[in-house]
Amino acid sequence: MEPAQTIIRKLGGPSVVADLLGVHRTRVSSWQRSRKTGGTDGRVPQNHIPALLAHARAHHIDLAAEDFLLVEQSGGTRGRRTSKPDRQRADSPTAGKCILLIIGGGIAAYKSLDLIRRLRERGAEVRCILTPAGEEFVTKLAAGALANAVFTDLFDPQSEFDVGHIRLAREADLIVVAPATADLMAKMAGGHADDLATAVLLAADSPILLAPAMNPHMWARAATRRNVAQLAADGAAFVGPNAGEMAERGEAGTGRMAEPLEIVAAAEAMLAPAERPLAGKRVLVTSGPTLEAIDPVRYIGNRSSGRQGHAIAEAAARAGADVVLVSGPVALPDPPGVNVVKVESAREMLKAVEAALPADVAIFAAAVADWRVAEAGRQKLKKGEGGPPTFTMVENPDILASVAHRKAKRPKLVIGFAAETANVIANAKDKLKRKGCDWILANDVSPQAGVFGGDENTIHLVSAAGVGSWPTQTKNEVASTLVARIAENLGAKP
Ligand code: CTP
Repeated sequence: MEPAQTIIRKLGGPSVVADLLGVHRTRVSSWQRSRKTGGTDGRVPQNHIPALLAHARAHHIDLAAEDFLLVEQSGGTRGRRTSKPDRQRADSPTAGKCILLIIGGGIAAYKSLDLIRRLRERGAEVRCILTPAGEEFVTKLAAGALANAVFTDLFDPQSEFDVGHIRLAREADLIVVAPATADLMAKMAGGHADDLATAVLLAADSPILLAPAMNPHMWARAATRRNVAQLAADGAAFVGPNAGEMAERGEAGTGRMAEPLEIVAAAEAMLAPAERPLAGKRVLVTSGPTLEAIDPVRYIGNRSSGRQGHAIAEAAARAGADVVLVSGPVALPDPPGVNVVKVESAREMLKAVEAALPADVAIFAAAVADWRVAEAGRQKLKKGEGGPPTFTMVENPDILASVAHRKAKRPKLVIGFAAETANVIANAKDKLKRKGCDWILANDVSPQAGVFGGDENTIHLVSAAGVGSWPTQTKNEVASTLVARIAENLGAKP
C-alpha cells in the first residue's frame, strides 16, 4: 500500500482530508498517482504535512512526521523506507549542507547517534559537539565513528587551532541541539558561553533547531517556560518534545525528545529553499478595526487586534506575492515586505481598497464597523442640559460585498471572514451567498473563544464546495494554511 493512501485512510478517508485542507476530493485521491499522470507518486505534498500532523495530534490519530517521509515503499509497514541513499541524497534539502549537531546530556542522547546516521544518509556533512554532560551518555568515539568530525573541548589547542569555535559556528548551515536539555536551554537563553557548545551557540548566526528532552515536570516548570519563550523570541525553532513514557519508571507526560526522523524533517523544512508559490500575484488584505468618529475626540470602534490580517499579509509576502495591506488603527508593526496603507474609517478603507485594485486575490480580515454616526460633531460634544445625546446611525459600505460584486477588476479569489458568536457555519453560509465572495473563513468570536486579541483561531472554510474545518491553529499557522490553499487554488484554475 502506498504511504499517501495509508495516511489518508488513517485520517478518515479522502473526503475528510479534502474538507480538512479545503481542497477538492479528487486532488487528495490524485496524490496516489504517478507524477507523469499528475500525481505525487504516493506522497502527501509537503505544504499539507503540518496541517495533517496537527489534526492527527488533536484527534489522537497514530500518525508521525516520519510516516510522511516514506518513499517508494513496497511492503507497507510503518518505518520501512527506501534504502537507496542516492535517492535520499538527491531529494533532501540537507544534502551538501553542513549541520552542526550539539548533543546535550540527557538519556535521549542515544537517539542522536541515529540522527547523525540519518542526516549523513541524506548527504549532509555532520559535525558534532558533545557537551560535558553529553559525554556522560555518548562517547566521543561513538559519535566520531558516525559523524564527519567530533569536538568536545573549548580549550583543546588542537581542535581550537584547527577549526576553532568561531569557525564551527560560522560554517554551519544549521545548528541542531538534540537533546536540548533544560540546563542547556537555560544557558542559551542567558547567553552563557562557558563551554564549547554554548560558546558556539552564542557566536552563531546560523539558524538553530532545538529538540528539547527532559522530565515532564522540568518541561512544565516556570523557568523552562520562560527560557523556551525567550529562545523562540530570539529566533530558535523547536521540534518536540513529544508526549509519552519517560525513561524513569512510571513517569509519563510531555518531555520525550522528537524521533530522529522528525528532527530530520524539521531540519529539512528549515533548509528547504523558500517556496514562493504566489510570486507574480498581487494580494490585497484588509486588517484591524475601523474607527467611526462621533466627534473630533470620540469614536465607535471594536476589539479587533489586526493580528490575523497582518499575519496573512506577511505570509502572502513570504510566499512571493506583491501585497497591499489596508489597515485600520492597530498596535502592530508593519509586516516586512508589505505595502501598508493606513486608514481609520470604513469609508477610507473602501477608498484605499478600490485604489489598490486590480488584484488576483483579496482577503477581507478587517472588522469593519457596520454603522457610523450620520453626522459626526465638528466640535467636541459638550454635556448639555438636554441630557445624553442620541445619534442617528447610518450603514457603512460593505467593502467585501462591493468588491465581490464588481463587474470590472473583480479579483479571481475574494475571501471574507465571518466573525460569529453563534450558529457559526449557518451564518457563514448565508454570508457567502449574501456577499458574493468565493470563500468565507468562519470563526467563533464569542468571549469564551478568546479570538479577539488571542493567539489562536479555529477556522471553518465555507465555499461552494462545502465546509472544511481546520484544526485550532495559531494566527500565523492559519495565515500559512490559507496562503497554501490560495496558491493551490490559483494553480488549479485554468
Ligand atoms: N466586511 C466588510 N465591510 C463591512 C462589513 C464587513 O468588508 N462593512 C467584511 C469583513 O472584513 C469580513 C466579512 O465582511 O470579511 C464579514 O464580516 P462580519 O462582521 O462577520 O459580517 P457583517 O457583514 O458585519 O455581518 P453581521 O455583523 O451581521 O454578522
